[in-house]
Amino acid sequence: MAFVNKDNLTQLAKARWETSHSPRMREVMTKLVEHAHAFVRDVNPTEAEWLAACEFLARTGREFCDDRRNEFILLSDVLGISTLVVQLNDKKADGTTPNTVLGPFYQPGSPEMADGQNMAEGIEGETCYVHGNVTDLNGTPVPNARLDVWQADDEGMYEVQLPEITDPRLRAVFHTGSDGKYCVQTISPLGYTIPMDGTVGDLIRGTEISHFRPAHIHFIVEAPGYKRVVTHLFRKDAPYLDSDVVFGVKDDLIVPFNVHDGGESPTGDKVNGPFATVQFDIRLEAV
Ligand code: BEZ
Ligand code: FE
Repeated sequence: MAFVNKDNLTQLAKARWETSHSPRMREVMTKLVEHAHAFVRDVNPTEAEWLAACEFLARTGREFCDDRRNEFILLSDVLGISTLVVQLNDKKADGTTPNTVLGPFYQPGSPEMADGQNMAEGIEGETCYVHGNVTDLNGTPVPNARLDVWQADDEGMYEVQLPEITDPRLRAVFHTGSDGKYCVQTISPLGYTIPMDGTVGDLIRGTEISHFRPAHIHFIVEAPGYKRVVTHLFRKDAPYLDSDVVFGVKDDLIVPFNVHDGGESPTGDKVNGPFATVQFDIRLEAV
């Protein structure tokens, strides 16, 4: 029997994990051993550094994870891993609306709203109408597509970050009509910082990395017979488009916000005072 030395240790550890019962677990765990050992051999941490890394992970779970917050997702986001996983899995045809990270602030079960209804009722901010067409790749309208929409408020806070909020806030589900069109009334989004009070913030503060996300609104778009799209729209000319801390920005998702002094909204209502309109068309691929 071969006892352990630093040359055979990786092989010995891999061989143990070869005994995994499921083929996928075997593949994942043996690769994890292979890559993690390569990382350790490359970085050559001291024992104190390795202990500090374990303490970092323990603190991340103990102090910054609960049913409203998952700091590990944020860690995966700022390392670019969340976006890498999304991109490796986004096998839709060219020309479809690309997928992006879901992010930690999505909440299922948003209220259903009628076309053009205001999901920002009573919330400070510039009135904004987001409207567009949901089509297939040939430009044929997709009726009755379901759009689950959510965003942060003018202080960059999502409902899930505000424990005192009990009713749905800045999130709603809309549907396209028979013409494939939709319209959402909301407030213009602003850029915001990711939460910096946790272990991810501690890491970021040790770098020159910008901790901001550019102004955006999140969408999940689903329709029977089409692949699901999880995406964002980003405001053209917003700060941080080229430095998004979670690597979410793509050309196709950047749209202009047109600001009006007042007048008719896309829903035909008369608006007194300034408001913005945004056209965001979504292209789905059939399954
Ligand atoms: C978000 O856009 O909601 C988000 C995504 C990833 C990390 C932090 C925030
Ligand atoms: Fe967001």
